[in-house]
Amino acid sequence: MTLEEIIKNRHSVRQYSDKKIPPEDLKKILNAGYLAPSWMNSQPWKFILVQNDSAKELLSKLSNNQPHVKNAAAVVVCVADKKGWDKEIFGEVLKKRGMEEAGIERILSIPMFYPKLLGEERLLLRTVEQVTYAVSYMMLQAYELGVDSCIIGAIENEATVINHPDIVKEVNETLNLNQDDVIITMITLGYEKEKTPPNKQRKDYDKVVFFEKVN
Ligand SMILES: Cc1cc2nc3c(=O)[nH]c(=O)nc-3n(C[C@H](O)[C@H](O)[C@H](O)COP(=O)(O)O)c2cc1C
Repeated sequence: MTLEEIIKNRHSVRQYSDKKIPPEDLKKILNAGYLAPSWMNSQPWKFILVQNDSAKELLSKLSNNQPHVKNAAAVVVCVADKKGWDKEIFGEVLKKRGMEEAGIERILSIPMFYPKLLGEERLLLRTVEQVTYAVSYMMLQAYELGVDSCIIGAIENEATVINHPDIVKEVNETLNLNQDDVIITMITLGYEKEKTPPNKQRKDYDKVVFFEKVN
């Protein structure tokens, strides 16, 4: 399958068969997230593969009881790792790129380059931005392997709402997350129960794509 075909045919799948996903395919999907691009290669993320039934049930509760979270063969929990911006961690990434100490200090002093200087809210925004690319990479990789998926963004977190702090707490404990970890998205993975053709409903192309300037 070409990338063009993958992009055209991939669609959100919410009804899964009981078929398990081979471990080597799960590994490839996670690797796609691992290799995704990020701001100065900051990689402020964690990806947690969940296959355990009781954990999937709990994650379903976190997503307002969406049934496909529970019924998927696997769920990748995509976490914004705000700690990934800490000077020691981000500095280490820059060092690996061959940057000298003075250059690193300079980067860490410029708000445009170092979102930690912009406050909690904008730090989270920038971190979400990074996680999003990795999510796309994983979905597309999954589809190439014949694995269907759905992004689950309607979840309780500090970027949306927290109506059930007890559930959030239980999820954090179950996944061993720390206070700098924010679950942004989950990706449900599995094989569609009954194959349906993609139904790509989109706005009109010329309402969103422009050449040189907006019409
Ligand atoms: C950020 C984001 C959050 C989403 N959250 C959910 C969700 O919580 N539950 C769900 O069933 N689908 C969710 N979706 C899937 C969208 O509804 C779906 O991608 C969109 O309708 C386009 O359909 P397609 O993926 O089949 O092309 C989400 C998609 C994105 C990108």
